[in-house]
Amino acid sequence: MKDAQKGSKARAGRRSFLTKGLAAAGAATTAGAFLGHGLSAFADDERGPEEKSGRLTHGDAALLRFAAAAEVIESDFWLQYNELGGIQDSEAPGGSGNPAYTAALNNLDEDMNVYIHDNTDDEISHFTFLNAYLESKGADPVDLEPFRTLPGSTATGSSGMPRITNLMKLTLDTSWWTRYRTDAQNPDLDPTATFPQAVPGLSKGKFTAIPRTDADLSPDAHIQAIANTAAFHFATIEQGGNSLYPSMAQRATDVEVLRILISIGPTETMHFQTWQDKAGHAVSPPFNVTDPTNGLTFPDLSEAGELLTNNLIMPEPCPFLSQKLPKCSIIRPTETRGIAMGVLKFLTDMGLFIGQSKEFFEFMRDLAEDADEARRGFGQ
Ligand SMILES: [Fe+2]
Ligand SMILES: [Fe+2]
Repeated sequence: MKDAQKGSKARAGRRSFLTKGLAAAGAATTAGAFLGHGLSAFADDERGPEEKSGRLTHGDAALLRFAAAAEVIESDFWLQYNELGGIQDSEAPGGSGNPAYTAALNNLDEDMNVYIHDNTDDEISHFTFLNAYLESKGADPVDLEPFRTLPGSTATGSSGMPRITNLMKLTLDTSWWTRYRTDAQNPDLDPTATFPQAVPGLSKGKFTAIPRTDADLSPDAHIQAIANTAAFHFATIEQGGNSLYPSMAQRATDVEVLRILISIGPTETMHFQTWQDKAGHAVSPPFNVTDPTNGLTFPDLSEAGELLTNNLIMPEPCPFLSQKLPKCSIIRPTETRGIAMGVLKFLTDMGLFIGQSKEFFEFMRDLAEDADEARRGFGQ
């Protein structure tokens, strides 16, 4: 009873925004035509106080809705990267490319622009599939288009369309670097464990990962530092997805919903592993620059010892489930309790939503709370 009350209160809060949010939705029509796919959470205004779960359990629908929201968010910022630094084609349309930024990214790997494009394409497919699957089961999809209100880059190559996410004030926790390189600790077994940062500078301060204007295209060390920040953002975000899916999957009820979560999740892992390798080039000569405009320094980790060396990218075995069991090479963390709220905090703390409205945070919090209430095997 208590949980049900909490749930309906949260949903009531979201509904009051859904009515107010309609005005904002009008401003995003152009972008919506691309990213919105005509799926609108507003349509449920006449359908009663809760999102429809259709033929899915409430828990399964909530898990998939939170995943869909995370994927819309990923798609929004990956498209910003692709417009400026990826391959330009109809799969990820909108931009025209920024030669100086693309060149700085491609210093880290000659195929960087291809990988950026393909990661963008993957994320768009993730949210499009998840929303379509929800609808196919009679459940409500997720629409974040009303929150497409943030100004993006005005540098050459940007489409200039409004954004849901902000890539210009990022604070990055790069401790995943050592979390996957140590065999001694697993945050699931020891929540107080600390893992050193790969790039300490990125964890203090706010840094842009894209050229904000053409003034950011020089000097060379400045645009390289921006590209390096992007490279670390790519890996930071994808290791988050890498933990999100297995964490949520533990509470799926329907085997097909479980199959969706354990089939999308490993593609996030493929992204993470690729980006971890590319980020390694941003912390080795000659591209481990110091940004002359703000002092952000990318250290040389090419011979930094087992915990930090940049080419040790395979996960080290670590404690799993119990210290009494042998160490095991695994994704970590995968603690399921509170995972959605944890991911929302992770995204918020990195500055991805700076400038977003109170309504946006309420909307996301409601989705996360509903996902965290999902229980395996509960029909409701
Ligand atoms: Fe994704
Ligand atoms: Fe991803």
